[in-house]
Amino acid sequence: MALLDRIRMRPAPEPSSRKVRSHAARHESSEPSSRNAAQEERSREIERKRKREHQYQEFKSRVHERLFERIDFSKLAKVSEERASSDIADLTLRILDEEKALFNTEERQKLVSEIQDEVFGLGPLEPLLHDPTICDILVNRYDQIYIERQGRLEVTAVRFLDDGHLMRIIEKILTRVGRRVDESTPMVDARLRDGSRVNVIIPPLALDGPTLSIRRFSEEALTADSLVESGSITPAAVTLLEACVVGRLNILISGGTGSGKTTLLNMLSAFVPESERIVSIEDSAELQLHQEHVVRLETRPPNIEGKGQVSQRELVINCLRMRPDRIIVGEVRGVEALDMLQAMSTGHEGSLTTVHANTPRDALMRVGTMVAMSGLEIPASTIRAQMGSAIDLVIQVERFSDGSRGVTHINEVTGASESEVTMQELFALERRGVSSDGRVERILSATGLRPSFLEKLRGRGIDPSDSLFVAA
Ligand SMILES: Nc1ncnc2c1ncn2[C@@H]1O[C@H](COP(=O)(O)OP(=O)(O)O)[C@@H](O)[C@H]1O
Ligand SMILES: [Mg+2]
Repeated sequence: MALLDRIRMRPAPEPSSRKVRSHAARHESSEPSSRNAAQEERSREIERKRKREHQYQEFKSRVHERLFERIDFSKLAKVSEERASSDIADLTLRILDEEKALFNTEERQKLVSEIQDEVFGLGPLEPLLHDPTICDILVNRYDQIYIERQGRLEVTAVRFLDDGHLMRIIEKILTRVGRRVDESTPMVDARLRDGSRVNVIIPPLALDGPTLSIRRFSEEALTADSLVESGSITPAAVTLLEACVVGRLNILISGGTGSGKTTLLNMLSAFVPESERIVSIEDSAELQLHQEHVVRLETRPPNIEGKGQVSQRELVINCLRMRPDRIIVGEVRGVEALDMLQAMSTGHEGSLTTVHANTPRDALMRVGTMVAMSGLEIPASTIRAQMGSAIDLVIQVERFSDGSRGVTHINEVTGASESEVTMQELFALERRGVSSDGRVERILSATGLRPSFLEKLRGRGIDPSDSLFVAA
Protein backbone atom coordinates (compact mmCIF):
# COMPACT_ATOMS: atom_id res chain seq x y z
CA MET A 1 0.00 0.00 0.00
CA ALA A 2 1.30 3.44 -0.83
CA LEU A 3 2.57 5.43 2.08
CA LEU A 4 0.14 8.20 1.35
CA ASP A 5 -2.81 5.79 1.59
CA ARG A 6 -1.51 4.44 4.82
CA ILE A 7 -1.18 7.90 6.24
CA ARG A 8 -4.67 8.67 5.08
CA MET A 9 -5.99 5.59 6.88
CA ARG A 10 -4.66 6.74 10.20
CA PRO A 11 -7.65 7.63 12.37
CA ALA A 12 -8.17 11.37 12.53
CA PRO A 13 -6.91 12.80 15.81
CA GLU A 14 -9.39 14.17 18.23
CA PRO A 15 -9.90 17.86 17.45
CA SER A 16 -7.69 19.82 19.77
CA SER A 17 -10.43 22.24 20.78
CA ARG A 18 -12.31 19.38 22.37
CA LYS A 19 -9.30 18.46 24.44
CA VAL A 20 -8.83 22.04 25.48
CA ARG A 21 -12.44 22.31 26.50
CA SER A 22 -12.54 19.24 28.68
CA HIS A 23 -9.36 20.38 30.35
CA ALA A 24 -10.82 23.80 30.93
CA ALA A 25 -14.06 22.29 32.20
CA ARG A 26 -12.26 20.50 35.00
CA HIS A 27 -10.84 23.76 36.25
CA GLU A 28 -14.05 25.64 35.87
CA SER A 29 -16.24 23.55 38.16
CA SER A 30 -15.71 25.87 41.11
CA GLU A 31 -15.99 29.14 39.11
CA PRO A 32 -19.11 31.33 39.09
CA SER A 33 -21.68 30.14 36.56
CA SER A 34 -21.70 33.41 34.52
CA ARG A 35 -18.08 32.85 33.68
CA ASN A 36 -18.91 29.26 32.87
CA ALA A 37 -21.55 30.40 30.44
CA ALA A 38 -19.20 32.90 28.80
CA GLN A 39 -16.53 30.26 28.44
CA GLU A 40 -18.99 27.80 26.98
CA GLU A 41 -20.17 30.41 24.52
CA ARG A 42 -16.59 31.03 23.51
CA SER A 43 -15.96 27.31 23.09
CA ARG A 44 -19.10 27.01 20.96
CA GLU A 45 -17.92 29.92 18.85
CA ILE A 46 -14.51 28.29 18.36
CA GLU A 47 -16.24 25.03 17.44
CA ARG A 48 -18.49 26.88 14.93
CA LYS A 49 -15.43 28.55 13.40
CA ARG A 50 -13.63 25.24 13.12
CA LYS A 51 -16.64 23.70 11.43
CA ARG A 52 -16.95 26.60 8.97
CA GLU A 53 -13.24 26.45 8.28
CA HIS A 54 -13.46 22.70 7.71
CA GLN A 55 -16.37 23.11 5.27
CA TYR A 56 -14.46 25.82 3.47
CA GLN A 57 -11.37 23.61 3.20
CA GLU A 58 -13.45 20.71 1.90
CA PHE A 59 -15.06 22.93 -0.66
CA LYS A 60 -11.69 24.29 -1.72
CA SER A 61 -10.38 20.78 -2.10
CA ARG A 62 -13.40 19.89 -4.32
CA VAL A 63 -12.78 22.93 -6.51
CA HIS A 64 -9.11 21.98 -6.64
CA GLU A 65 -9.93 18.46 -7.80
CA ARG A 66 -12.32 19.68 -10.48
CA LEU A 67 -9.72 22.13 -11.62
CA PHE A 68 -7.22 19.31 -11.99
CA GLU A 69 -9.70 17.29 -14.06
CA ARG A 70 -10.17 20.15 -16.47
CA ILE A 71 -6.79 21.75 -16.74
CA ASP A 72 -4.36 20.83 -19.48
CA PHE A 73 -1.06 20.97 -17.62
CA SER A 74 1.04 20.44 -20.73
CA LYS A 75 -0.40 23.66 -22.15
CA LEU A 76 -0.13 25.48 -18.85
CA ALA A 77 3.58 24.73 -18.67
CA LYS A 78 4.12 26.56 -21.96
CA VAL A 79 2.67 29.90 -20.93
CA SER A 80 4.12 32.43 -18.50
CA GLU A 81 3.34 31.96 -14.82
CA GLU A 82 1.35 35.18 -14.87
CA ARG A 83 -0.83 33.94 -17.71
CA ALA A 84 -1.22 30.49 -16.14
CA SER A 85 -2.16 32.10 -12.87
CA SER A 86 -4.89 34.19 -14.47
CA ASP A 87 -6.20 31.14 -16.38
CA ILE A 88 -6.43 29.26 -13.10
CA ALA A 89 -8.30 32.20 -11.56
CA ASP A 90 -10.83 32.28 -14.44
CA LEU A 91 -11.40 28.56 -14.29
CA THR A 92 -11.77 28.62 -10.50
CA LEU A 93 -14.42 31.33 -10.70
CA ARG A 94 -16.26 29.34 -13.39
CA ILE A 95 -16.24 26.23 -11.18
CA LEU A 96 -17.49 28.31 -8.24
CA ASP A 97 -20.43 29.45 -10.37
CA GLU A 98 -21.17 25.92 -11.50
CA GLU A 99 -21.07 24.69 -7.92
CA LYS A 100 -23.44 27.54 -7.03
CA ALA A 101 -21.23 28.42 -4.12
CA LEU A 102 -22.67 31.06 -1.81
CA PHE A 103 -19.58 33.17 -1.42
CA ASN A 104 -19.28 36.94 -1.40
CA THR A 105 -16.69 38.70 -3.58
CA GLU A 106 -14.10 38.79 -0.83
CA GLU A 107 -14.45 35.07 -0.12
CA ARG A 108 -14.30 34.26 -3.82
CA GLN A 109 -11.08 36.24 -4.13
CA LYS A 110 -9.64 34.50 -1.09
CA LEU A 111 -10.48 31.11 -2.56
CA VAL A 112 -8.95 32.01 -5.91
CA SER A 113 -5.69 33.10 -4.35
CA GLU A 114 -5.60 30.01 -2.14
CA ILE A 115 -6.14 27.77 -5.17
CA GLN A 116 -3.31 29.59 -6.93
CA ASP A 117 -1.14 28.94 -3.90
CA GLU A 118 -2.05 25.24 -4.10
CA VAL A 119 -1.19 24.99 -7.77
CA PHE A 120 1.92 27.17 -7.90
CA GLY A 121 3.03 27.37 -4.33
CA LEU A 122 2.97 25.61 -1.02
CA GLY A 123 -0.76 25.82 -0.30
CA PRO A 124 -1.73 26.98 3.19
CA LEU A 125 1.92 27.75 3.97
CA GLU A 126 2.12 30.52 1.35
CA PRO A 127 0.77 33.39 3.49
CA LEU A 128 3.14 32.37 6.30
CA LEU A 129 6.08 32.23 3.91
CA HIS A 130 5.27 35.72 2.66
CA ASP A 131 5.20 37.20 6.13
CA PRO A 132 8.73 38.50 6.78
CA THR A 133 8.16 38.77 10.53
CA ILE A 134 7.85 34.99 10.87
CA CYS A 135 11.12 33.16 11.43
CA ASP A 136 9.98 29.60 12.09
CA ILE A 137 7.01 27.65 10.74
CA LEU A 138 6.31 24.48 12.70
CA VAL A 139 3.72 22.05 11.37
CA ASN A 140 3.14 19.58 14.18
CA ARG A 141 0.13 17.98 12.49
CA TYR A 142 -2.00 18.82 9.49
CA ASP A 143 -4.29 20.79 11.78
CA GLN A 144 -1.79 22.31 14.20
CA ILE A 145 0.68 24.89 12.94
CA TYR A 146 2.81 27.13 15.11
CA ILE A 147 4.99 30.05 14.11
CA GLU A 148 7.76 31.89 15.87
CA ARG A 149 7.74 35.64 15.65
CA GLN A 150 10.15 37.88 17.56
CA GLY A 151 11.24 34.97 19.65
CA ARG A 152 7.73 33.95 20.65
CA LEU A 153 5.77 30.89 19.62
CA GLU A 154 2.14 31.31 18.61
CA VAL A 155 -0.41 28.89 17.26
CA THR A 156 -2.01 29.85 13.91
CA ALA A 157 -5.43 29.26 12.39
CA VAL A 158 -3.76 27.87 9.28
CA ARG A 159 -4.41 24.20 8.60
CA PHE A 160 -4.22 21.54 5.95
CA LEU A 161 -7.26 19.53 4.94
CA ASP A 162 -5.77 16.25 6.12
CA ASP A 163 -2.48 14.31 6.29
CA GLY A 164 -2.63 13.59 2.56
CA HIS A 165 -2.81 17.30 1.76
CA LEU A 166 0.13 18.05 4.05
CA MET A 167 2.07 15.16 2.51
CA ARG A 168 1.49 16.53 -1.01
CA ILE A 169 2.89 19.92 -0.01
CA ILE A 170 5.86 18.29 1.72
CA GLU A 171 6.60 16.32 -1.43
CA LYS A 172 6.33 19.49 -3.46
CA ILE A 173 8.84 21.25 -1.18
CA LEU A 174 11.30 18.38 -1.38
CA THR A 175 10.93 17.72 -5.12
CA ARG A 176 11.91 21.32 -5.81
CA VAL A 177 15.27 20.72 -4.16
CA GLY A 178 15.75 17.21 -5.53
CA ARG A 179 15.05 15.39 -2.29
CA ARG A 180 12.40 12.90 -1.23
CA VAL A 181 10.87 11.41 1.86
CA ASP A 182 9.46 7.91 2.06
CA GLU A 183 9.40 4.85 4.27
CA SER A 184 13.07 4.13 3.71
CA THR A 185 14.10 7.73 4.44
CA PRO A 186 11.42 9.01 6.82
CA MET A 187 13.58 11.95 7.99
CA VAL A 188 14.90 14.62 5.67
CA ASP A 189 16.83 17.79 6.31
CA ALA A 190 17.02 20.08 3.31
CA ARG A 191 17.65 23.63 2.30
CA LEU A 192 15.21 25.53 0.13
CA ARG A 193 16.37 27.69 -2.72
CA ASP A 194 15.89 30.85 -0.67
CA GLY A 195 18.22 29.41 1.97
CA SER A 196 15.51 28.41 4.46
CA ARG A 197 16.02 25.10 6.20
CA VAL A 198 13.41 22.40 6.20
CA ASN A 199 13.13 19.28 8.28
CA VAL A 200 10.52 16.64 7.55
CA ILE A 201 9.78 13.57 9.63
CA ILE A 202 6.91 11.26 8.80
CA PRO A 203 5.21 8.14 10.23
CA PRO A 204 6.05 5.68 11.57
CA LEU A 205 8.71 7.83 13.26
CA ALA A 206 6.36 10.76 13.77
CA LEU A 207 3.42 9.39 15.71
CA ASP A 208 0.78 11.99 14.80
CA GLY A 209 1.31 12.21 11.05
CA PRO A 210 3.79 14.06 8.83
CA THR A 211 5.67 16.84 10.60
CA LEU A 212 7.40 19.76 8.99
CA SER A 213 9.68 22.42 10.48
CA ILE A 214 10.83 25.38 8.45
CA ARG A 215 13.49 27.71 9.78
CA ARG A 216 13.18 30.79 7.63
CA PHE A 217 16.24 32.30 6.12
CA SER A 218 16.27 35.88 7.25
CA GLU A 219 17.04 37.95 4.21
CA GLU A 220 18.63 40.61 6.33
CA ALA A 221 21.27 39.03 8.53
CA LEU A 222 21.37 40.82 11.86
CA THR A 223 24.27 43.27 11.87
CA ALA A 224 26.40 44.32 14.80
CA ASP A 225 24.43 47.59 14.93
CA SER A 226 21.06 45.88 15.11
CA LEU A 227 22.32 43.42 17.73
CA VAL A 228 23.57 46.34 19.82
CA GLU A 229 20.29 48.14 19.36
CA SER A 230 18.26 45.14 20.52
CA GLY A 231 20.49 44.79 23.59
CA SER A 232 21.99 41.44 22.53
CA ILE A 233 25.50 42.79 22.85
CA THR A 234 27.17 46.04 23.94
CA PRO A 235 29.27 48.38 21.77
CA ALA A 236 32.34 47.63 23.93
CA ALA A 237 31.91 43.88 23.41
CA VAL A 238 31.52 44.40 19.65
CA THR A 239 34.71 46.49 19.57
CA LEU A 240 36.60 43.76 21.40
CA LEU A 241 35.24 40.99 19.16
CA GLU A 242 36.05 42.95 16.03
CA ALA A 243 39.65 43.29 17.24
CA CYS A 244 39.75 39.55 17.96
CA VAL A 245 38.48 38.64 14.48
CA VAL A 246 40.75 41.06 12.64
CA GLY A 247 43.63 39.96 14.89
CA ARG A 248 43.05 36.33 13.83
CA LEU A 249 42.09 34.75 17.14
CA ASN A 250 40.35 31.37 17.00
CA ILE A 251 36.82 31.75 18.25
CA LEU A 252 34.27 29.24 19.46
CA ILE A 253 30.66 30.39 19.83
CA SER A 254 28.57 28.28 22.17
CA GLY A 255 24.82 28.17 22.79
CA GLY A 256 21.69 26.06 22.79
CA THR A 257 19.41 25.47 19.80
CA GLY A 258 18.10 28.73 18.39
CA SER A 259 20.13 30.80 20.85
CA GLY A 260 21.70 32.88 18.09
CA LYS A 261 25.01 31.07 17.41
CA THR A 262 24.77 31.28 13.65
CA THR A 263 23.60 34.88 13.84
CA LEU A 264 26.61 35.86 15.94
CA LEU A 265 28.97 33.87 13.71
CA ASN A 266 27.57 35.76 10.76
CA MET A 267 28.09 39.06 12.52
CA LEU A 268 31.70 38.17 13.35
CA SER A 269 32.42 36.93 9.83
CA ALA A 270 31.70 40.43 8.55
CA PHE A 271 34.86 41.61 10.35
CA VAL A 272 37.13 39.33 8.32
CA PRO A 273 39.17 41.62 6.06
CA GLU A 274 38.43 41.54 2.32
CA SER A 275 42.02 40.60 1.58
CA GLU A 276 41.64 37.11 3.08
CA ARG A 277 40.48 33.90 1.45
CA ILE A 278 37.55 32.37 3.38
CA VAL A 279 36.36 28.79 3.08
CA SER A 280 33.07 28.04 4.84
CA ILE A 281 31.79 24.57 5.67
CA GLU A 282 28.22 23.94 6.75
CA ASP A 283 25.69 21.14 7.00
CA SER A 284 23.16 23.38 5.35
CA ALA A 285 24.49 26.68 4.17
CA GLU A 286 23.04 29.51 6.27
CA LEU A 287 25.90 31.95 6.59
CA GLN A 288 25.79 35.13 4.56
CA LEU A 289 29.36 36.05 3.91
CA HIS A 290 29.71 39.44 2.30
CA GLN A 291 33.31 39.24 1.27
CA GLU A 292 34.23 38.67 -2.38
CA HIS A 293 36.80 35.96 -1.85
CA VAL A 294 34.71 33.14 -0.43
CA VAL A 295 34.36 29.46 -1.23
CA ARG A 296 31.26 27.89 0.31
CA LEU A 297 31.09 24.14 0.93
CA GLU A 298 28.15 22.09 2.10
CA THR A 299 28.00 18.48 3.31
CA ARG A 300 25.93 15.91 1.44
CA PRO A 301 23.68 13.30 3.02
CA PRO A 302 23.67 9.76 1.64
CA ASN A 303 21.41 9.05 -1.34
CA ILE A 304 18.60 6.47 -1.43
CA GLU A 305 21.06 3.59 -1.63
CA GLY A 306 22.91 5.00 1.37
CA LYS A 307 25.86 6.12 -0.75
CA GLY A 308 27.62 9.33 -1.63
CA GLN A 309 27.67 10.90 1.81
CA VAL A 310 30.25 13.64 2.30
CA SER A 311 30.88 14.52 5.94
CA GLN A 312 32.02 17.74 7.54
CA ARG A 313 35.28 16.05 8.41
CA GLU A 314 36.02 15.25 4.78
CA LEU A 315 35.24 18.84 3.84
CA VAL A 316 37.50 20.23 6.57
CA ILE A 317 40.34 17.99 5.40
CA ASN A 318 39.74 18.95 1.79
CA CYS A 319 39.53 22.62 2.62
CA LEU A 320 43.01 22.52 4.15
CA ARG A 321 44.27 21.82 0.64
CA MET A 322 42.52 24.87 -0.71
CA ARG A 323 44.88 27.40 0.84
CA PRO A 324 42.33 29.06 3.08
CA ASP A 325 43.26 32.04 5.23
CA ARG A 326 40.17 31.48 7.34
CA ILE A 327 38.09 28.42 7.92
CA ILE A 328 34.55 28.96 9.11
CA VAL A 329 32.66 25.84 10.17
CA GLY A 330 28.94 26.50 10.76
CA GLU A 331 28.74 24.10 13.70
CA VAL A 332 31.11 21.39 14.88
CA ARG A 333 29.16 18.27 15.68
CA GLY A 334 31.62 15.40 15.46
CA VAL A 335 35.12 14.21 14.78
CA GLU A 336 35.84 17.16 12.49
CA ALA A 337 36.53 18.96 15.79
CA LEU A 338 39.95 17.27 15.76
CA ASP A 339 40.82 18.56 12.30
CA MET A 340 39.50 21.98 13.19
CA LEU A 341 41.74 22.17 16.28
CA GLN A 342 44.73 21.08 14.26
CA ALA A 343 43.97 23.64 11.58
CA MET A 344 43.54 26.35 14.20
CA SER A 345 46.95 25.70 15.67
CA THR A 346 48.80 25.19 12.40
CA GLY A 347 48.59 28.29 10.30
CA HIS A 348 44.86 28.85 10.01
CA GLU A 349 44.50 31.21 12.92
CA GLY A 350 41.36 33.24 12.87
CA SER A 351 39.06 30.28 12.35
CA LEU A 352 35.52 30.55 13.60
CA THR A 353 32.96 27.94 14.57
CA THR A 354 30.04 27.21 16.88
CA VAL A 355 29.11 24.36 19.17
CA HIS A 356 25.92 23.32 20.89
CA ALA A 357 26.48 23.77 24.65
CA ASN A 358 24.97 25.65 27.55
CA THR A 359 28.07 27.12 29.19
CA PRO A 360 31.59 27.94 28.02
CA ARG A 361 32.92 25.07 30.11
CA ASP A 362 30.43 22.64 28.58
CA ALA A 363 31.45 23.91 25.16
CA LEU A 364 35.06 22.95 25.78
CA MET A 365 33.99 19.61 27.22
CA ARG A 366 31.88 18.88 24.16
CA VAL A 367 34.72 19.71 21.80
CA GLY A 368 37.00 17.48 23.90
CA THR A 369 34.48 14.64 23.71
CA MET A 370 34.16 15.01 19.94
CA VAL A 371 37.92 14.82 19.55
CA ALA A 372 38.07 11.80 21.86
CA MET A 373 35.50 10.07 19.64
CA SER A 374 37.79 10.24 16.63
CA GLY A 375 39.02 6.78 17.58
CA LEU A 376 42.64 7.90 17.61
CA GLU A 377 43.09 7.17 21.31
CA ILE A 378 44.58 10.58 22.04
CA PRO A 379 45.31 10.98 25.78
CA ALA A 380 42.90 13.37 27.50
CA SER A 381 45.77 15.58 28.65
CA THR A 382 46.93 16.01 25.04
CA ILE A 383 43.43 16.95 23.93
CA ARG A 384 43.21 19.52 26.73
CA ALA A 385 46.60 20.94 25.86
CA GLN A 386 45.64 21.23 22.22
CA MET A 387 42.34 22.92 23.01
CA GLY A 388 44.11 25.24 25.44
CA SER A 389 46.51 26.40 22.78
CA ALA A 390 44.22 26.34 19.73
CA ILE A 391 41.09 28.08 21.02
CA ASP A 392 41.49 31.71 22.06
CA LEU A 393 37.97 32.78 22.86
CA VAL A 394 34.64 31.21 23.83
CA ILE A 395 31.54 33.34 23.43
CA GLN A 396 28.35 32.08 25.03
CA VAL A 397 24.93 33.10 23.71
CA GLU A 398 21.55 32.39 25.22
CA ARG A 399 17.88 32.57 24.39
CA PHE A 400 16.17 34.21 27.37
CA SER A 401 12.72 33.44 28.74
CA ASP A 402 11.27 36.55 27.01
CA GLY A 403 12.40 35.24 23.61
CA SER A 404 15.28 37.69 23.23
CA ARG A 405 18.83 36.51 22.61
CA GLY A 406 22.15 37.79 23.77
CA VAL A 407 25.76 37.22 24.70
CA THR A 408 26.21 36.02 28.29
CA HIS A 409 29.98 35.38 28.44
CA ILE A 410 33.10 36.29 26.59
CA ASN A 411 35.84 34.05 27.97
CA GLU A 412 39.47 33.91 27.09
CA VAL A 413 41.03 30.45 26.96
CA THR A 414 44.33 30.82 28.76
CA GLY A 415 45.80 27.32 28.51
CA ALA A 416 45.39 23.94 30.15
CA SER A 417 46.12 22.68 33.65
CA GLU A 418 46.44 19.12 34.94
CA SER A 419 42.73 18.65 34.99
CA GLU A 420 41.08 21.20 32.72
CA VAL A 421 41.31 23.80 30.02
CA THR A 422 41.67 27.11 31.82
CA MET A 423 39.63 30.20 31.06
CA GLN A 424 39.16 33.70 32.37
CA GLU A 425 36.01 35.75 32.03
CA LEU A 426 36.43 39.03 30.15
CA PHE A 427 32.77 39.97 29.88
CA ALA A 428 29.92 38.54 31.91
CA LEU A 429 26.20 39.08 32.09
CA GLU A 430 24.55 40.42 35.18
CA ARG A 431 20.86 39.50 35.40
CA ARG A 432 18.71 42.12 37.05
CA GLY A 433 15.37 40.33 37.14
CA VAL A 434 12.27 40.53 34.98
CA SER A 435 10.45 43.80 34.23
CA SER A 436 6.69 44.18 34.66
CA ASP A 437 6.16 43.59 30.93
CA GLY A 438 8.12 40.33 31.03
CA ARG A 439 11.44 41.54 29.65
CA VAL A 440 14.58 39.99 31.08
CA GLU A 441 16.63 42.92 32.40
CA ARG A 442 20.34 42.35 32.07
CA ILE A 443 23.65 43.99 31.38
CA LEU A 444 26.81 42.60 29.80
CA SER A 445 29.90 44.21 31.24
CA ALA A 446 33.64 43.86 31.46
CA THR A 447 34.91 41.97 34.49
CA GLY A 448 38.02 44.11 34.81
CA LEU A 449 40.39 41.33 33.71
CA ARG A 450 42.76 42.17 30.89
CA PRO A 451 43.13 39.40 28.33
CA SER A 452 46.54 37.81 27.91
CA PHE A 453 46.03 37.72 24.14
CA LEU A 454 46.60 41.50 23.99
CA GLU A 455 50.28 40.84 23.29
CA LYS A 456 49.41 38.57 20.41
CA LEU A 457 47.01 41.17 19.00
CA ARG A 458 49.57 43.96 19.34
CA GLY A 459 52.05 41.79 17.48
CA ARG A 460 49.52 41.76 14.67
CA GLY A 461 49.06 45.49 14.70
CA ILE A 462 45.77 45.54 16.62
CA ASP A 463 45.65 47.47 19.86
CA PRO A 464 42.24 47.55 21.55
CA SER A 465 41.77 50.37 24.01
CA ASP A 466 42.35 49.58 27.69
CA SER A 467 39.05 51.23 28.52
CA LEU A 468 37.20 48.20 27.05
CA PHE A 469 38.31 46.10 29.99
CA VAL A 470 37.42 48.48 32.80
CA ALA A 471 34.67 46.99 34.95
CA ALA A 472 31.50 49.08 35.15
N1 LIG B 1 20.42 38.58 19.01
C1 LIG B 1 19.29 38.26 18.38
N2 LIG B 1 18.23 39.08 18.41
C2 LIG B 1 17.08 38.74 17.81
N3 LIG B 1 16.89 37.61 17.09
C3 LIG B 1 17.91 36.75 17.02
C4 LIG B 1 19.17 37.03 17.65
N4 LIG B 1 20.00 36.00 17.42
C5 LIG B 1 19.30 35.13 16.68
N5 LIG B 1 18.05 35.56 16.43
C6 LIG B 1 17.01 34.85 15.70
O1 LIG B 1 16.83 33.61 16.34
C7 LIG B 1 16.70 32.55 15.41
C8 LIG B 1 17.75 31.50 15.67
O2 LIG B 1 19.02 32.06 15.48
P1 LIG B 1 20.28 31.21 15.00
O3 LIG B 1 21.41 32.15 14.94
O4 LIG B 1 19.96 30.44 13.77
O5 LIG B 1 20.43 30.21 16.22
P2 LIG B 1 21.34 28.90 16.38
O6 LIG B 1 22.39 28.94 15.32
O7 LIG B 1 21.91 29.03 17.77
O8 LIG B 1 20.43 27.74 16.27
C9 LIG B 1 16.81 33.19 14.05
O9 LIG B 1 15.51 33.40 13.56
C10 LIG B 1 17.50 34.51 14.30
O10 LIG B 1 17.12 35.49 13.37
MG1 LIG C 1 22.88 27.51 13.90
